[in-house]
Amino acid sequence: MGVIEQYREYLPINQNTPIISLEEGNTPLIKADPIAETIGPGYNVWLKYEGLNPTGSFKDRGMTVAVSKAVEEGVHAVACASTGNTSASAAAYSVRAKIKCIVVIPEGAIALGKLAQALIHGACVIAVRGNFDEALSIVLELTGKYPVTLVNSINPYRIEGQKTASFEICDRLGHAPDYHALPVGNAGNITAYWKGYSEYKERGRIDTRPKMLGFQAAGSAPIVEKRVIKDPKTLATAIKIGNPASWKQAEEARDRSGGVIEKVTDDEIIEAYKLLADKVGVFVEPASAASVAGILKKAKEGYFPPNAPSSPEKDIVCVLTGHGLKDPERAIKCLEHPVVVDANLEDVVREAGL
Ligand code: F0G
Repeated sequence: MGVIEQYREYLPINQNTPIISLEEGNTPLIKADPIAETIGPGYNVWLKYEGLNPTGSFKDRGMTVAVSKAVEEGVHAVACASTGNTSASAAAYSVRAKIKCIVVIPEGAIALGKLAQALIHGACVIAVRGNFDEALSIVLELTGKYPVTLVNSINPYRIEGQKTASFEICDRLGHAPDYHALPVGNAGNITAYWKGYSEYKERGRIDTRPKMLGFQAAGSAPIVEKRVIKDPKTLATAIKIGNPASWKQAEEARDRSGGVIEKVTDDEIIEAYKLLADKVGVFVEPASAASVAGILKKAKEGYFPPNAPSSPEKDIVCVLTGHGLKDPERAIKCLEHPVVVDANLEDVVREAGL
């Protein structure tokens, strides 16, 4: 069952809406004790592994709703600018809907796996000599002038679909977490999660909402630095964004929840990326590790108050937004290459240390 069927009563779906789905959502919430240990006693850390969506990222939750509504409205083409994952998702859902998909990407700046996805699904892929922010302004103009629906997260249906991830977290835990950490790029996802928690509270499904902890990459941290970054830089290409579309909504989520939006360096991101792979057994793309890098950094600063043994454990959820296989080049780059030996048992046994 996809997120539209699962959470229909919370979504703008009517009997005329065709459901374009790839059975997205229902992703694992993995308990990560090796990370919790570094936070302190009385804390649980949960990883919402969104890399297990059909196209390998959280974008599918929003895309199922955005594309379903576009088809309901009689549209024959969608378009997006993308750092990679949105384009992969838009391309796949457009195949399901039998509509045209146009994606505009910054040349040379998206991970290989994501480019492969958009191409194999037959999208019209156009790389521009510019960054994501420039690509987005072109697509905004294009969708304003032609009968093509924008499926970036400025499209409110994307936010509607993506909010279902907070419902799943609350349904699984039986309550809202105390803290919710996630990477921030164009700021659609932090907006969506906050909306989801708020709606669940309004409907009496949860009593409290978490503090929202957003993390930007240090070279691409416009919200933290309170200025547009003209030439954003980070190896976490998914969040290499200098002028987020949902900037205001992200600040609102931060302020209403009593949370923070801060930055983590590329080194901190890679450290968390390796920790997730090494100690937890979860492979994510670098941008996704920003959520974990962020809570580790905040823990070092003493942000999480000691939790008395008599009080209930506190829950921190980190969203792992995309699968590690999206960006295999990064993994290879930061690891030792395999040892090569002659094809005999003796050499293999020696290298295996047996
Ligand atoms: N993590 C990953 C893996 C992403 O692909 C993105 C955004 C984010 C985090 C940040 O989410 O933009 O809602 O704040 N990727 C977009 C794209 C921009 O084009 O795929 P956000």
